[in-house]
Amino acid sequence: TTPILPLEAGLLKKFEAPLADVPGIARAFEVIYHSLALTASNQFLPTPIRALPTGEEKGRFLALDLGGTNLRVAVVRLYGGDGLKVCTQRSWSIPEHFKSGAAEVLFRWVADRIGDVVGEYLGDVGSEERERILSEGMELGITFSFPMEQTTHDSALLMPMGKGFTFTTTNDLSSLLKMAYDDLLSTTTPAHPLPKLDIVSITNDSISTLLSAAYLHHSTENTRAAAGIIAGTGTNATCLCPVSKLPASKQPTSGPSTGAILVNTEWSIRGTAPPLKPYTTTWDVQLDLENEKPGFQPFEEMVGGRYLGELVRLVCLDLFSNVPKSQLPEKMKLRYGLDTRLCSAVEASVNDDEALSLLQDYFDPDTSSTSSTATATTTTTGEDPEGWKWDPPSAASFRRISTAVSTRAAALVAAATIGVLGVNDELKRHAEKEVLVCYTGTVLEKYPTFRERCEGFMMEVVERWVVEGRIPPAPSGKRRAVRLAEAKDGGIVGA
Ligand code: BG6
Ligand code: GLC
Repeated sequence: TTPILPLEAGLLKKFEAPLADVPGIARAFEVIYHSLALTASNQFLPTPIRALPTGEEKGRFLALDLGGTNLRVAVVRLYGGDGLKVCTQRSWSIPEHFKSGAAEVLFRWVADRIGDVVGEYLGDVGSEERERILSEGMELGITFSFPMEQTTHDSALLMPMGKGFTFTTTNDLSSLLKMAYDDLLSTTTPAHPLPKLDIVSITNDSISTLLSAAYLHHSTENTRAAAGIIAGTGTNATCLCPVSKLPASKQPTSGPSTGAILVNTEWSIRGTAPPLKPYTTTWDVQLDLENEKPGFQPFEEMVGGRYLGELVRLVCLDLFSNVPKSQLPEKMKLRYGLDTRLCSAVEASVNDDEALSLLQDYFDPDTSSTSSTATATTTTTGEDPEGWKWDPPSAASFRRISTAVSTRAAALVAAATIGVLGVNDELKRHAEKEVLVCYTGTVLEKYPTFRERCEGFMMEVVERWVVEGRIPPAPSGKRRAVRLAEAKDGGIVGA
């Protein structure tokens, strides 16, 4: 352990501030969600979904999962009785150049990838099945990880997008994809035919997450699948919302006028920012100003995997402000030069030496093998030809900063999650059950102990709220339980 210098202590304190009042932040989120459900036109977006799967659904579907970072295509078989098989699954990372420019270009690439998977699947099945698919076509379900305006299952108007996607189109997603796939069909040869596709469902990834989890661990006597959240490249949540709470403009155009409806909260869009204001640091402000869409998704910028590394980089620039810029590693000076995966690896490292060698490998790969044992120093003279290098104290500082940034993210996601459960009074109404919040997304799935930290903060809020009488205690003196449950392959299965 190295002593923490006052400059670093000051930086850490800024990220630790929200940890002192996670229940208060959760309450503030709950209040704002109630009012956004009533008023916002770009948040708490109703979907056409009125009930969760029971686990008895059956069929064979093509599934497309278009996230902010990856595209996945697969064939999914549902057998009922929770049975499930995901076949011919393939995944690609979305090339950066498709994120701007014309949406049609991205969708033509997507259609080609669908063609790859369907072609492969046709090669794997028997000839009878192949002929049937080619004559009848396939049903396609789509998970689309962006905001959409939706009144029917098979169409969705695109809305402004985040996560680095700058193209703006209010086109219908279904038409965009159909056009691109028809284009592909027109180029197929008799030797490699492709079937027609029927787009039967489109859902946001938060909703797919809850749907897939409901199919698999569908609510039981002891558990209730109450919400779906994403903490990955971006962040979002879905919950059931009583139809009676929605304003006339958001009322469903079909189905019963009572009961509940699944809403895509888009909880990171700016309407949810007020509870975050007291905890917004100068680095958050800087990151936002430099973002493609300043002000669009402030919450996501504090917790999304796309941004955590960048926040750590900005804080490090201040921590190392006594080092001449010319001596800092190139990636440290580059916007988005610090990948969140590095923070994740450093936090997982067993000691400062391992953290040091990860940092050296990442920032200075050419010399790291020779310098990994050297205890370099922080020089401010600029006379050392090799310049500034990572050393054990700076690696320890990096680890602490990274941990502070990711812990704040876990606390804010926890507070938002408990807040969102309030939309349908889940914690008030299901005191006897374990409330499950189903999740996907690389931050919750892969970032070391992020899920545990998040669950710990959620439990802290729940316990405080029981004491304060905001929510009832569990019957027979048991501990109230809210648990995060992974929805594996959620985007694919939910689609
Ligand atoms: C995946 C889901 O597991 O997580 C996607 O299948 C979702 O639908 C994604 O968009 C979110 O995580 P990330 O880290 O890829 O943005
Ligand atoms: C972004 C999108 C949202 C999506 C989330 C997680 O916030 O706006 O629709 O669910 O990322 O992928």
